[in-house]
Amino acid sequence: MQVTISSGNNINGTLVLPLFEGEETLPEIVEGIPSSLKAQINRVLGDGDFKAKANATMTLVGTDGGKAMLVGLGKTEKADVHAYREAGATVVASCKKVHGNELTVVFHGADMACMTSFAEGMMLRDYSYDLYKKKDDDHEDTNLSARINCDEGDATALSAAIDRAASIVSGVHLSRDLGNCPPNDMYPMAFAEKAERWAKEYDNAKVEVIDYEAAKRHGMGGLVAVGMGSSRKPCMVIFTLNGDQKGRHPMLVGKGITFDTGGISLKPGANMDEMKYDMGGSATVFGTMEALASIGYPGKVVAITCMAENMPAANAQRPGDVITTLSGKTIEVLNTDAEGRLVLSDGLWKAGTDYDPEYIVDFATLTGACVVALGHEATGLWSNDDDFRTRIHEAGNDVGELAWPMPLLPAFEKEMTDSKIADTRNLGAGRWGGANTAAAFLKQFVPYRGEGDDAEQITWAHMDIAGTYWGAKTNKMVGHGATGIHVRTMVGLITGE
Ligand code: BES
Ligand code: ZN
Ligand code: ZN
Repeated sequence: MQVTISSGNNINGTLVLPLFEGEETLPEIVEGIPSSLKAQINRVLGDGDFKAKANATMTLVGTDGGKAMLVGLGKTEKADVHAYREAGATVVASCKKVHGNELTVVFHGADMACMTSFAEGMMLRDYSYDLYKKKDDDHEDTNLSARINCDEGDATALSAAIDRAASIVSGVHLSRDLGNCPPNDMYPMAFAEKAERWAKEYDNAKVEVIDYEAAKRHGMGGLVAVGMGSSRKPCMVIFTLNGDQKGRHPMLVGKGITFDTGGISLKPGANMDEMKYDMGGSATVFGTMEALASIGYPGKVVAITCMAENMPAANAQRPGDVITTLSGKTIEVLNTDAEGRLVLSDGLWKAGTDYDPEYIVDFATLTGACVVALGHEATGLWSNDDDFRTRIHEAGNDVGELAWPMPLLPAFEKEMTDSKIADTRNLGAGRWGGANTAAAFLKQFVPYRGEGDDAEQITWAHMDIAGTYWGAKTNKMVGHGATGIHVRTMVGLITGE
């Protein structure tokens, strides 16, 4: 969706009017509305027939031409950037054939941040995944465009802010495209090839692929064990942005299970198709790299995605197997469906030993237990550093992507280490606190820096997006399918903007 800025007052296409509840009037500055439409709007607003509650909409079609969509922002004092973002998304979600392809938005005294947020909401919501549908009249590309009318003095700054938002949205949409892609076309090496193609678009981006043979050679026992039972072999993909910059840098790690059948510990059949989204962590990471590259972020960022397909097969790993991970630590695999933590054990270890990160954040659709705890409303957030956890929580709040603090307790870690025959085990003792035991398991694979008593674990956070990467019906930024959540959170955290 193209969003442009105009300092004129003319209307192209459908007039979009965001209004405050209790202050429903037509701004005087609007020019060029057919007189009957103007009269209709004034009559509807004057008679109190449109209450501008948050996300309420009404469409008016002028008897002598012109169309308008009224959209509610709620009460003035509550109309913050989040309300504007949701209203923008609501407008796009409510667009029908009658509204045409062009919108002109006229605000009633919104500041720059609110106008940008409204545009961001429109752009985020303007997404559908129809690559596999035949194009016909009902499924035509609509190519919606919007113009925002603003004061002349604001035009340049607003235009720059909206361009930046559009770049970040390209990363969110990339994450959704990757997640929505059917698993017969989205397998580990297909993801890697997409990453390699992406890197060619940017002079300052590089992608390295560690394929199955190399992963075996390097001793990536977690990644290999999960992926070996599939004919689509596993791989690790390493993205580097601005690799020539010196000093410590953010590091992202993503779980990329392109399909999770559970392996020999096979999942029940119902809704198993949704396990195509089990590469949501890797999609979040790839989308974030695209967003950062697209806004021209100058700092160094490295990301690792651990790609595998978890299949039951004659050559698949078994419950009871003991594997040796990249860290040298052995894991007793008690359930092959707890596979995300196995691939991440190698990703986290590599992230902390081959690089010198300021911090590591991993993203994973890791546990059903996290969905039990937080539903589809918030991502589970764990960290070994309270201040860092707060920073991520706040970065999420700033962009309307909730990440809820969860406890990283020694008792959970202990539960994961009491294997009789290996250093650690991939299953808790019981089913309680399953999201917490998973987080505690991962912590064992975050390297320390320094020697002896001075050794300190690298700052790390784990984000369980099992409930938020798809199926979040209250997320107004998306119709259905993958949400692309936390690309915006991460851009905020990394850039500080
Ligand atoms: N990918 C699943 C987690 C998941 C389940 C995400 C449902 C979203 C919706 C993960 O690999 C898994 O199967 N985890 C198991 C762990 C258990 C065996 C300890 C789970 O959550 O049941
Ligand atoms: Zn699983
Ligand atoms: Zn999984």
